[in-house]
Amino acid sequence: MQSDLRPIVVVGSINMDLVSNVPHIPRVGETVLGNHFQMYAGGKGANQAVGVARLEYPVKMIGMVGRDAFGKQLRELLNKEGVDTTHIGEAAAATGIAMIEVDAAAENSIVVAQGANLHLTPDVLREKTNILRAAGLVLAQLEIPIDTVECLAKICAEMHVPLILDPAPAQALPDGLLSAVTWLTPNETEAQFYAKGTSSNEEMLAMLLRAGVQGVILKRGALGSVLAGYDGVPHYLSAHKVRAVDTTAAGDAFNAAFAVGLMQGYGPVESARFATAAAAISVTRAGAQPSLATRKEMLLALERTNHDENWSEMLEQHEMT
Ligand code: RIB
Repeated sequence: MQSDLRPIVVVGSINMDLVSNVPHIPRVGETVLGNHFQMYAGGKGANQAVGVARLEYPVKMIGMVGRDAFGKQLRELLNKEGVDTTHIGEAAAATGIAMIEVDAAAENSIVVAQGANLHLTPDVLREKTNILRAAGLVLAQLEIPIDTVECLAKICAEMHVPLILDPAPAQALPDGLLSAVTWLTPNETEAQFYAKGTSSNEEMLAMLLRAGVQGVILKRGALGSVLAGYDGVPHYLSAHKVRAVDTTAAGDAFNAAFAVGLMQGYGPVESARFATAAAAISVTRAGAQPSLATRKEMLLALERTNHDENWSEMLEQHEMT
């Protein structure tokens, strides 16, 4: 790991994911029989931190776990991945839990019990100002208190540290927050929430840009992504062909790799291409953190830039799935 680089700092959630595979996501009042249960390390913040570490870029995480077995286990796993966990605190609350159902089409539905993540307050964050000041870039999401995200955005703006905000899960945002965001990265559901009343992707992107963010990347899963903002022209990127097993954390894989791309000096479009590859690899495997791409896999995959090629087969041939 190259430690003379300005680290990426992730401010966000740390969860244990309790995952059931189900034939379909249950409707209200319905019980479905799941056929498989597994626990995986997750949390949008921790996933993004591991995504960065696997791409061999230095990363520090600011977050909170409980004083319980899950908290200990999740911190140990982050350490093992090479994430600097010095700034992960312990709260008198249960470690965050996500209850996830993954259906036969690899799509998911998630309920998060935030627990200790809610103890990442603005006061806790302000104590980490020096860590944020030294960051090359900050990654955040919305599974921690919204006033902490607002405080983070102000600190980043004051210190001219770029902030990439994954506005997930979608929720009402404080006035002015978006104008302190460098890159906003909603998926289509989130973009519809934040840009209500718009009827096309272009209108959605335009509305979000008017709200003050410098750039937007609309993440469209298998349909690829659209990037807009910094040069006034929307850029459409297609996704790679893969056999999807579980789409959980694909968005986190994307954000982590986009950040690493920018820190390596790639432009936004090139970084988004890099991110698209990381997301594609992540959906070929089950679970959040176990699914995230390594640098070695990325290099192998990017040698094969043809989007018509099925990357699942290529990854299998190299025994990487
Ligand atoms: O983005 C995926 C993540 O969302 C899961 O790991 C789960 O913990 C929820 O936070």
